Amino acid sequence: MDTPRARVLIVRLLLDAGADRLRERFDVVEGGLDADRARWLELAPGSRALIADPTVPVDRELLDACGQDLAIVANFAVGYDNVDLAACAERGVVVTNTPDVLTQATAELAIALTFAAARRISDAERFLRQGLWSGWEPAAHLGIEVAGATIGVVGMGRIGRRYAELAIGLGANVVYAAPRPSPEAEQALGVRRLELDALLERADIVSLHARAGEENRGLIGRSELDLIGPGGVLVNTARGALVDERELALALAEGRLGAAGIDVYEREPEVHPALLDAPNCVLLPHIGSATRTSRDGMARMAAENVIAVLGGQDPLNPVPKG
Ligand code: DGY
Repeated sequence: MDTPRARVLIVRLLLDAGADRLRERFDVVEGGLDADRARWLELAPGSRALIADPTVPVDRELLDACGQDLAIVANFAVGYDNVDLAACAERGVVVTNTPDVLTQATAELAIALTFAAARRISDAERFLRQGLWSGWEPAAHLGIEVAGATIGVVGMGRIGRRYAELAIGLGANVVYAAPRPSPEAEQALGVRRLELDALLERADIVSLHARAGEENRGLIGRSELDLIGPGGVLVNTARGALVDERELALALAEGRLGAAGIDVYEREPEVHPALLDAPNCVLLPHIGSATRTSRDGMARMAAENVIAVLGGQDPLNPVPKG
């Protein structure tokens, strides 16, 4: 009699670049994009591997629903703030993520948002589409130039470092803030580390690339926004939890912050209503890693981690245990 194939639950959707590899080897069950939490819990029992994404809270309830044979949670993302690491560690469940393959795509999107916010692109386009444009105006839609600007990078991990490198290539002066110094980045890029407040005060443009652990929740609130100031720009492609969205909307509305380019939100897919109405603000629906190259790479990486762990090998991309 054939040994039954291990059950792998793709909670929502994994692109075929990864899912096909799993289908060849395992009994793959897919929740699909329309499944709700009740359906995930129904599909979970007996799963040896669970593939989640940033929209799936992997908590005690979901882990327990999978049962004691669960060996791995492979997150289809580099961030893993949706996964209860402590609960996974207690159950001996390995957690993996998808670093590197999305670094370029996410850094490029942060650069795109930097330009878009600094040059007020969304507001200017809306103005035109609304038929308000009556001709070239000397002082309308004035923004700031990236070349020559001081850019503060908060978080000097892979994406922050790549963003810094691209920004330097565009002629910006880059400083960074991070819990630990990055001698490699300092040497290779000539960037200097500052305390967060000093960076916010000095930078014309601030781009967030920090992890979204508890220690960073609400990292940018009212007083930090005021340090960036009326001429300054905030870009966030990391996680919504880093920024107090209500305070951000207020700062934009009151002209205490110059502009913002935002890809991630505190309670996705909800966006604070005041932010939707705020001026000088470019809002995107969490598309930092949304290139074919990056998403296929992420899908492959999630699958390879499952194949390794269910094959009795070490995970390729383990995240630190909770
Ligand atoms: C991640 O990987 O953490 C992104 O936010 C989704 O691509």
